[in-house]
Amino acid sequence: MPLQTPGPFAAHARGRDMIVDTTGLPAAFERSFPVWGGPAERLRFLLSWAILAPSRHNAQPWTFEIEGDEVRVYADASRALPAADPDGRELTMACGAAMVNLQLAAAHFGHATSVEVLREHRRDGLLARIRLEERRAFTPELEELFQAIPHRRTNRLPLDGREPPDGLVTQLLREARREGVWLRPVEQSQRRAIAELVAEGDHRQWDSARFRAEYAAWSRANDTTRLDGMPGYASGRSDAAAILHPLLLRFANPARAEAERDRQRALGTRALLVLSTPRDGKEEWIAAGEALQRVLLRATAAGLYASYLNQPIELPELRSRLRDVLGESGVPQIMLRLGYGLQVRPTPRRPVEEVLRRLEVRSRRPAPLARREPVVAQPRPATSVEAAVPSTVH
Ligand SMILES: Cc1cc2nc3c(=O)[nH]c(=O)nc-3n(C[C@H](O)[C@H](O)[C@H](O)COP(=O)(O)O)c2cc1C
Repeated sequence: MPLQTPGPFAAHARGRDMIVDTTGLPAAFERSFPVWGGPAERLRFLLSWAILAPSRHNAQPWTFEIEGDEVRVYADASRALPAADPDGRELTMACGAAMVNLQLAAAHFGHATSVEVLREHRRDGLLARIRLEERRAFTPELEELFQAIPHRRTNRLPLDGREPPDGLVTQLLREARREGVWLRPVEQSQRRAIAELVAEGDHRQWDSARFRAEYAAWSRANDTTRLDGMPGYASGRSDAAAILHPLLLRFANPARAEAERDRQRALGTRALLVLSTPRDGKEEWIAAGEALQRVLLRATAAGLYASYLNQPIELPELRSRLRDVLGESGVPQIMLRLGYGLQVRPTPRRPVEEVLRRLEVRSRRPAPLARREPVVAQPRPATSVEAAVPSTVH
């Protein structure tokens, strides 16, 4: 039986004003940590931070099971996006991002965690097992990331032209390397070619009626009471435009406008970054999602916003052309722009009660976890920024 403690973000269900206020809630909510409860109750509480992870179209493609001190993380195939993400790559990344939030929340409340990522493909979608330990793991660095969780947002509005602070990009590269993932700034000399790939990706995706229908299906009105999907305000749409946009997508193709806007963004953004992994597979997608979330949280802590220019990565032919342009030996997983901008409102989340499908207070079989070996990124020629990162950091 799921425990019935309300999560800090259950308020989303009650409409727009409450959605705006949710960033203020966690501090009060934190005080209800079940100090006297067992590990299962604690894990259930910590899931309130896991569910704040980003996911493509805000599909929130995760479910969880808790048994004693172990939480199992499942990919929810019923929330797959066959047009935008046919292989479930971004779906798996979103689950990786949720895992990081859970671990940071555990550290904040005084618990280390150990993680087992399942290598084989499982029909039930099981991706990983995370176990809560008695050992403490708190550090100021982790705490900074934890505090950023409820403030992180995808910001699709224009970002201003200010440079990120000195040293931040280097810090982000380090953050990614902790998960065995590379983050590489796109150099000025590569910008024009990258911008053209982004624009071509927009044309190919928006020209597809399937892609437009999927996007429309996950689009929401600004005063939505639904707990998933993208309210129009997240893309800067007025109340009327948020209602009309998904309807218009049935008849009109916004490819040209989207491509032009994204081309300019790829050219003009100060920090344009590509995250890539040594290989392409389930384990790497989880690591990429974990690295993405760490990078986003570190950037959030520094007052920056991020949004995505993923079109060339979502289309296999463009992905390999992107790799060539970047001279990348790894496999690109996500492209981000980072910068300063106006505050944006949070998007809704399904409460823990909806994503936790089983809770057993006691563990029936205390099977040891096959702990994950740290993924070690193969050496790759350093860019000028990376050269500043000490080689001992992985
Ligand atoms: C793996 C991944 C890929 C994403 N790709 C895109 C994208 O291509 N375009 C976009 O606008 N947002 C993208 N997003 C952002 C989601 O739409 C966003 O996280 C979601 O709507 C929830 O909003 P929030 O990030 O403000 O919490 C992506 C998120 C993830 C985790």
